[in-house]
Amino acid sequence: MAPALINAIIQDIIRIPYPIFFFILFVGVIASYRVFGSALSLLYKFTYGKKTNFAKYGARKGGWALVTGASDGIGKQFAIQLSQKGMNVILAARRKEKLDEVAAALAKDVEHKIVILDVSDPSHQGWTDIVELQKELESKEQKISVLVNNAGVSYDFPTPFEELTQEKSDQIIDVNCKAVMRITRIIMPAMLARKNGLVLNLGSCVGQIPVAYLAVYSGSKGFLKYWSMAVGQEAKEKGVQFENLNTWFVSTAMSKIRKATWDVPTADDYVRHVLSYCGQGHLSWTPYPSHALFAWIVDNVASRRQAMEWFWNSQKAIREFALAKKKKKMEEARKAAEEAAAKA
Ligand SMILES: NC(=O)c1ccc[n+]([C@@H]2O[C@H](COP(=O)([O-])OP(=O)(O)OC[C@H]3O[C@@H](n4cnc5c(N)ncnc54)[C@H](OP(=O)(O)O)[C@@H]3O)[C@@H](O)[C@H]2O)c1
Repeated sequence: MAPALINAIIQDIIRIPYPIFFFILFVGVIASYRVFGSALSLLYKFTYGKKTNFAKYGARKGGWALVTGASDGIGKQFAIQLSQKGMNVILAARRKEKLDEVAAALAKDVEHKIVILDVSDPSHQGWTDIVELQKELESKEQKISVLVNNAGVSYDFPTPFEELTQEKSDQIIDVNCKAVMRITRIIMPAMLARKNGLVLNLGSCVGQIPVAYLAVYSGSKGFLKYWSMAVGQEAKEKGVQFENLNTWFVSTAMSKIRKATWDVPTADDYVRHVLSYCGQGHLSWTPYPSHALFAWIVDNVASRRQAMEWFWNSQKAIREFALAKKKKKMEEARKAAEEAAAKA
């Protein structure tokens, strides 16, 4: 049966006129190269790929890394792991007590500085502190050669655009976009002058796929991706590497996912992957293997429309769950208030 079928197919192929046959072959080879080539390059990256050597950024030789949003989640892990790689670290965020805790967890053989900075406020004293700190380091022939633009904010829970306040929209754009450009403007010129530097921008899968009910957050990460890649191309030939990190879910306060799984890593595990393979010339890449698999499926197998539907359905479910939880909490608070009033 099988050989007869194969024979019939071959007979049919032989009957196809040559120009059409070669056209189909050409299209097939290109499509296979795109799909399987990208899959193989992913596999290679996470198995035999070159590991990052932070010596080129001055690890243990006076090189500094500045991490925004270093008080929690992914940023905290960047600070700790960069210190373990021998980078001195500048920790920036709003919550001093949290930054002190992170500072205590840094490797003991590196230096650190803490800058209290609200990145959403352009007039905040922290901006001047960073400029002054950079001048002070340069005067000692030290350098900020790694910048991790990590501070970010998202929605409290999925919300239709018309229900999101203008204040919340502004906060998301201020933190996720404007602040990233502001801090990059401060740090980048010295990197360009030295022809050495690495800028990691915390992108998101919602910047790869437009996600309904997270419209402003999704738009902010879409902006970040395109801005990062475009500036990255300009900076690359001047010796400075920009990378948009396409991040899917990571177990942190922002994602509200407490339990890590194969597809939702801990911040610790996620950052370990970033720091193992960054600085290799990719303008945008997906650092965690399971995230990379999803990103590959979205790029090569599913259509964007399908991906948007999947995300929207999951956001609808999360919204329903969050609204039910909110309602339950309000009900409990109302009952408690009634009981207290009855006792009084
Ligand atoms: N977790 C995920 O699943 C996920 C997925 C994709 C992308 N990302 C991106 O990864 C980055 C880190 O997220 P995360 O999950 O680690 O979030 P997180 O645990 O909520 O931490 C956010 C960090 O940003 C800082 N921050 C927020 N607003 C700030 C402001 N106005 N000024 C200064 N710092 C501010 C916070 O510090 P203070 O409150 O002390 O200021 C905190 O250290 C974000 O850019 C996020 O968009 C996360």
